[in-house]
Amino acid sequence: MNKSLRKAVIAGNWKMNKTRPEAKELIEAIKPLAVGADCEVVVCVPFTNLETAVEATKGTNIHVGAQNCHFEKSGAFTGEISADMLTELGVEYVVLGHSERRQYFGETDETVNKRLKAALEAGLKPIVCIGELLWERECGITEEVLGKQCKLDFFGISAEDMKKTVIAYEPVWAIGTGKTATADQAEEACAYIRSVIAKMFDKATADAVTVQYGGSMNAKNAAELLSKPDVDGGLIGGASLKAPDFGVIIAAAKE
Ligand code: 13P
Repeated sequence: MNKSLRKAVIAGNWKMNKTRPEAKELIEAIKPLAVGADCEVVVCVPFTNLETAVEATKGTNIHVGAQNCHFEKSGAFTGEISADMLTELGVEYVVLGHSERRQYFGETDETVNKRLKAALEAGLKPIVCIGELLWERECGITEEVLGKQCKLDFFGISAEDMKKTVIAYEPVWAIGTGKTATADQAEEACAYIRSVIAKMFDKATADAVTVQYGGSMNAKNAAELLSKPDVDGGLIGGASLKAPDFGVIIAAAKE
């Protein structure tokens, strides 16, 4: 990554894993590994672990994120959590538009855009996930897919808000499959995303925005992925549940 322009963000997406005692134990194990990190370290935990995580990370350099939020402030939305409810808990980040939410829970670019606006208004730092399906890559339309997602998901937000937003490039075919994009494929896609942001906003915004890679990033491949100039960190699933592995990835972002 280009460290003169951006700080890496290494975020763990725990997905639907860990009870509260397990969450506390994992954070305690991550804490010493994050000391002195030359990147922003974030743990995005299930809703039920947010309070535990906020408490356990007080006075440390570990930041806490949720994995979704609703776009309305309150109302008859059974099962949903508002952005204000998250900030009130002390949560700083929120993952939006993860492909698992798009695939299993009817998330669309339109609802991602609404959630993004609500999250920004509440003062949260959003991590917006975009990425192509295997079929789309095979059909040669990766750039069209990424361009369309950027245009729809980031529609109507200001350049200032865009700079506060983290983009996670997560090729759907690489998530939880053990198939990582090569470092060159990750670089190509992250650089393309940055070029779309430059066209939608301006070069200064594109230079400032963090574009992470996500999809089977692990202790072995992180250093190579993170060495690429447009890969500004990672959104890590499975490997973020093992403190030593997550620690190696944090350390790789230093180099
Ligand atoms: P894995 O690292 O388990 O492939 O998950 C990636 C991901 O979906 C992070 O949001």
